[in-house]
Amino acid sequence: MSFNHEIWPTIVKTKFIDSKIVVLKFGGTSVNDLSSWEKIHSLVVDRIDSGLIPFIVNSAVSGVSDQLFKIVSNINSNEVLQILTDIEQTHRQLCNDLSVDADVVSDELNNLGNIVNSCHITGAVSLPEHARIMASGELLASILGHSYLINKGLLIDLIDSREYIKSIDSSSLRESSKYIAVEANHSFDKVLTDHVSSLSKSFVAPGYIASNSKGETVLLGWGGSDTSASCYASMMNALRLEIWTDVRGFYDADPNIITDASSINHLSYEEAHEIASSGGLVLHPKTIPPMKDKDIPIFVFSSKSDELIGTVIDSSKVNVKPEVIAITRKSDVTVMSIANAAMWHQSGCLAEIFNIFRDHNLSIDLVSTSETNVTVSIDTVSNSILNEELEHLKEKLEEYGQLQVFNDCTSISLIGHKITNLIQRISPSLSFFEDNEIYLFTHSASGLNLSFVINNEAGYKVFQDLYHDVFRFSRNAPTHKNDIDTNFIANQWWAIKRNKILSLLDQEDSLYIYDLDTVNKSYKSLNELKAFSKVLYAIKANDNADILKSLDSIGASFECVSKEEIIYLLDILPTLSKDRILFTPNFISHDELEWSIKQNIMTTIDNEYIFYNWTSSLSGKQIFLRVDTGYGQGHHEHVKTAGDNSKFGIPMANVNDIVKIAKDNNIDIIGLHAHSGSGISRPENWTELLKLLLSLAPMIDNLKYIDIGGGLAVTDTVNQDSMNFKALNDELLKLIKNTSYELWIEPGRYIVANAGILVSTVNQLKTKGDLNYIGIATGMNSLIRPALYGAYHQVINLSKLQDEPTVLYTIVGPICETGDRIARDRWLPATSEGDIILIANAGAYGHVMSSSYNLRIPAKQKVI
Ligand code: LLP
Repeated sequence: MSFNHEIWPTIVKTKFIDSKIVVLKFGGTSVNDLSSWEKIHSLVVDRIDSGLIPFIVNSAVSGVSDQLFKIVSNINSNEVLQILTDIEQTHRQLCNDLSVDADVVSDELNNLGNIVNSCHITGAVSLPEHARIMASGELLASILGHSYLINKGLLIDLIDSREYIKSIDSSSLRESSKYIAVEANHSFDKVLTDHVSSLSKSFVAPGYIASNSKGETVLLGWGGSDTSASCYASMMNALRLEIWTDVRGFYDADPNIITDASSINHLSYEEAHEIASSGGLVLHPKTIPPMKDKDIPIFVFSSKSDELIGTVIDSSKVNVKPEVIAITRKSDVTVMSIANAAMWHQSGCLAEIFNIFRDHNLSIDLVSTSETNVTVSIDTVSNSILNEELEHLKEKLEEYGQLQVFNDCTSISLIGHKITNLIQRISPSLSFFEDNEIYLFTHSASGLNLSFVINNEAGYKVFQDLYHDVFRFSRNAPTHKNDIDTNFIANQWWAIKRNKILSLLDQEDSLYIYDLDTVNKSYKSLNELKAFSKVLYAIKANDNADILKSLDSIGASFECVSKEEIIYLLDILPTLSKDRILFTPNFISHDELEWSIKQNIMTTIDNEYIFYNWTSSLSGKQIFLRVDTGYGQGHHEHVKTAGDNSKFGIPMANVNDIVKIAKDNNIDIIGLHAHSGSGISRPENWTELLKLLLSLAPMIDNLKYIDIGGGLAVTDTVNQDSMNFKALNDELLKLIKNTSYELWIEPGRYIVANAGILVSTVNQLKTKGDLNYIGIATGMNSLIRPALYGAYHQVINLSKLQDEPTVLYTIVGPICETGDRIARDRWLPATSEGDIILIANAGAYGHVMSSSYNLRIPAKQKVI
């Protein structure tokens, strides 16, 4: 795979532009089999062909460091000898797979065997022995890889990192820090640089290991191979540092937890450092400062992918707007809280407490202080702290006040810029804090980081919810995994009907296109849930006549919000029975209310004003009551329809009074209604809503129906199973089991979003600054959601569906507003004038919200 500099044309900044040295670091899963080493070989050859000097830094074969650590921590166990045999077996097998003479690893295996055996006999492992045992993993992999690359015909030297990477020794360090988590000197090394530059060769060196002033083997701590690579790059003023690992660079969240997390293609050193040090596992945080100091760019790529898509970290990124770039999570964090009323106005107290941590060579992650309490979080794993050292630390801290220690905590951090400006966006997730204790909450004045620590158990879920609230529905960038996942794309209805869609664009420059099968399928998936006796389609989401007819033919009911919607609906479906319509208006005129009542359309009353002022219009009639349950949810502030900031509904506390007025005036409340907002993916929204409505039900004698509103989210992908409907159904059934109420739901988005696309022809292209623009024939006049809510819509070049996505584009329309931007930073194939761009998930709130702003006619609609 060629390192194509053109992929990163404008963004990368490097200080040592004339340097020929490129450091490539390969993690454990990138050195563990033949194909990994074939990949390394091809990368090295490519760099040599570009006139560069490749300098490889390798980790231990994956799994080996864990096995070695098991040995040092259980030296008395007989299992140790078995692990030793397993390690030998792994390396001999790899030699075999790589066609390397198995003897090359014999010396190091013997060294390892001798130390382990002698420690096993004495039953103890000293720190120098600990370091030497752990070092074997990287040493074995480098010896083996070196032989393989020589056999492949490369001129390559094996370097023993202990010769060049030296620890910074200090007598004040705790003992373990002198051996198993050392700091290394990374200042420019002329001897090494001259040596590497003078030979026309490549180099391979084991990561993680160094030596101290006594010449003993020492370790750079967990993740130390990254640190070694950064040391080497700094010591030789390298052109760049490439980190090859098993993920495609940095993501906006851990992709193992958030399956559709997005990759980030460009970060500043500061951003990358914040992400790495608050739990992003891609890169060890210590890698970054030496590179920042010298302005050496870091590239993070996946050795498992054939695409050269990853993250570049350099100094050219400028950020001015409030933005969350990533959400990180670190589990197994320990929180220590020291409380002492005497601290109040006591100068130097904090310094003394922090000195205790310094004396134990422990770095503190997060701190929060009050006049009488200091709370800190520490990461015991990356600090490589031994149990007895931790106990000693606690004893010392107890001298300063009452110490509370909370183990098994999770810290969650939002990383970005001016984070507090975005706090309203995460407010739905913060409701989880009502039931969960927060041990620590911090915000840096730089605005780069907002973190809190909670227990491990809650951490996982809060992390997912937070991600969802921050990104999934409110994000206009960057590329989603599914945007470039060819399997995913191939299965979409619009990919299957591609030729037909393209032919429709012969006549029009832009079109909304709908697939009725997808509409019907979505409706049926809800209608078959036993909990609901009625599923009403909220026609505001999409009022296309063919869609309405199709839904009518499969038995749907309809929810309308205006007289005009009702008249229109009855015009399209003249035989529709009125008991299949629910009218849910807001702040309508007295006339409009009188009209709906006269038409015998079931009407929802959502304001006390009507009961007090238009009482006679309701007298003798049956109505629904719309309640504000007190909290709104949704993909954006604008679409939360409950809570203090929303104009909808009657507060729960006022329902009692309204029920009395209704009784006194012969108004028959037969339905209770609530709707918390739109684009909600938490099933608990509807169960909690139902519980609240059920708590009001006993007040209302003739209550028959409970409508829990719409709001069901679709994911940005078409994977509608993402919400567990079966579980939701079961929970709802449980709640209404012993009641006589019928449960209704009134979704709009869920039924039509995935069934619609907006397609538009490319008018022009432009590159300006860092951005490559695609200008399509329509914009916010057809689809306003990205401009209004920062909504995310998948973007595809339909004309070039099979082509590799190689260019990062921003997709804009022709409207005279900078906000006329459909999507930002999307990987697409190189695009040309006349190509057809597809904007997915545009079936809901697309055409219905279009306008003729700038007198531009919005895209017309077509059903296929
Ligand atoms: N019921 C009521 C009372 C509503 O106000 C709404 C939507 C729905 C049902 C249907 O909600 P859905 O299932 O579609 O989420 N324009 C925004 C969405 C506004 C929703 C307004 N009310 C957007 O493009 O995201």
